Amino acid sequence: MATVTLTNNITGKSYELELLAPSKGSALIDVRTLYAKTGLFTYDPGFTSTASCSSNITYIDGEAGELRYRGYSIEYLAKNHSYIEVCHLLLTGALPSPSQFKEFDAELRKRAFIPQSMVKLFHAFPDGSHPMSNMASAVAALASFHYEHLEMQESQDFQIMARRLIAKMPTLAAFSYRHSLNIPLIYPDLDRSFTENFLYMMRAYPTGPREEIRPIEIAALDTIFTLHADHEQNASTSTVRAVGSTGAHPYVAISAGISALWGPAHGGANEAVIAQLIDIGSIDNVDAYIARAKDPKDDFKLMGFGHRVYKNFDPRAKLLKNLLDELKEELGVDNNLLKIAQKIESVALSDPYFIERKLYPNIDFYSGLILIALKIPRPMFTVIFTIGRTVGWITQWIEQKMDTEQKIARPRQRYTGPIID
Ligand code: ACO
Repeated sequence: MATVTLTNNITGKSYELELLAPSKGSALIDVRTLYAKTGLFTYDPGFTSTASCSSNITYIDGEAGELRYRGYSIEYLAKNHSYIEVCHLLLTGALPSPSQFKEFDAELRKRAFIPQSMVKLFHAFPDGSHPMSNMASAVAALASFHYEHLEMQESQDFQIMARRLIAKMPTLAAFSYRHSLNIPLIYPDLDRSFTENFLYMMRAYPTGPREEIRPIEIAALDTIFTLHADHEQNASTSTVRAVGSTGAHPYVAISAGISALWGPAHGGANEAVIAQLIDIGSIDNVDAYIARAKDPKDDFKLMGFGHRVYKNFDPRAKLLKNLLDELKEELGVDNNLLKIAQKIESVALSDPYFIERKLYPNIDFYSGLILIALKIPRPMFTVIFTIGRTVGWITQWIEQKMDTEQKIARPRQRYTGPIID
């Protein structure tokens, strides 16, 4: 058994702590018995050095810019498989055979409808409300319609619950958007695939489609969903696991994940990137914004730059940049915003401030430019992330449920307040 020795220089006592080996990546010091053995806690705000679970879903090597779902590289999956196949892979551990795909795809189409009485919920939101808050509310409300999922014990029931939720997300998203514009809701069309159906529900008139949904648009959005499908223990997934650890209903755990995702330091960055590019307005202003980002007295951040784990490049950003290059002519990407983004990237990547801190474009830096070209309105950008990530959240929730080592998430603290006797 590999161990590390911890020596307390005040008491002179030494303690052996076991090292846990992963299938790939850094070994981990098992500190579960630390307090019992030593009376000491670890201090790690933001969990920069702490693993909260064992997981066989997603692997990231932040130094190498590597991301894998169930062992497959993200580059391979994005090129060769659809988002629905990736959902099957994440949920079951294997890519589907042709017959499994047919069954899975048909099941998702059938489950895309939401309970009719839930439509009233959307009418209760004020016009112009942000679709992310509507999404968080709607997914939490699904727990009232499918309360039986709280009592699940069998893995077959977990799968039904997961498929139900994944299938309904595009419908809830499109309803959230259309309600925010106060325009009639469009119901799912069973004849359309998952990704096409979402674009249809966003764009169609109640009398049917008015505008062609081009295969190139479906393929681009499908890739975006795949690149967002899972990302191990990020802030929103850790939130889902924390809520799930209390035994709460899975849909409210996912709703909490949606809320966590909304923040601009996380998934909300894709909306913030475009707002920032518009604010910058011209490539002539880029240097001034870079100077602000570097100024320690200014809390301004370059949105879409930096990542807790990726310290060389974000492989998802690389794929999206390539996708943007491939599609920019056909999709009609906003040239002014693209030029500003390109200038920011080239200035930042050669600037010592960004190089020393290992700050590179992340997935959110380029996704917004593609989403604009797909005519997705800006408040829906993080909702797109939500649709793609739902499979990851629910897969992680299931894994946690089956993990006998898991406990209620309950960190400790370093108390710095007074004691008054
Ligand atoms: N612009 C300018 N400086 C930055 C940026 C940025 N985007 N990101 C980090 N820094 C600086 C910090 O100020 C800090 O500088 P210091 O050492 O002089 O104090 C240093 O780089 C390290 O940054 P931390 O905030 O400690 O890094 P952390 O891992 O905690 O945060 C995060 C990562 C939240 C992504 C951060 O880089 C950020 O806020 N980026 C902008 C928002 C963004 O794009 N979020 C999307 C992330 S991807 C995703 O969630 C899907």
